Amino acid sequence: MPLFTHHLFICGNQRSGRHPRGCCDPDGSGKLRAAFKACLNRHQVDGVVRANNAGCLDQCELGPTVVIYPQAIWYGGVTTDDVERIVVKTIMNNEILEDLLIPTEKLNSRQSLRKEQ
Ligand code: FES
Repeated sequence: MPLFTHHLFICGNQRSGRHPRGCCDPDGSGKLRAAFKACLNRHQVDGVVRANNAGCLDQCELGPTVVIYPQAIWYGGVTTDDVERIVVKTIMNNEILEDLLIPTEKLNSRQSLRKEQ
C-alpha cells in the first residue's frame, strides 16, 4: 500500500449561530468534506490523499478552514467552489493558492481576514 502524501483536515465543526467565533459548517451538512472526497476520487488520488473530517481547528474566524499535512498549508474561507483547484493545484502540483492561504501571523490570532479587507 502506498504511503499517504497528504492528509486534509477539513473543519466540520458546527456551533449555534450566536456563537461569537462562528463555525466552519453552520448547517452541519459536511458538504465541504464530501466535495473533497468526490474530487479526490475523480482524480484517482484518493488512495494516497485522505480527506479527514476535523473538529474545530481553532481558526474559526478564518473559516471554513482546511489544513493540509505534512505540508502544513492552512487555507481559510474555503468553499466547495475552491475544492477542484485545491486538489489540482495544491495537492497534485504543489502550488500554493495565495488567495486562500492563511498568513502565518494570522494563525491563532482570532482575527478575521474578512474584517480587514
Ligand atoms: S469551527 Fe472551524 S476552525 Fe473552529
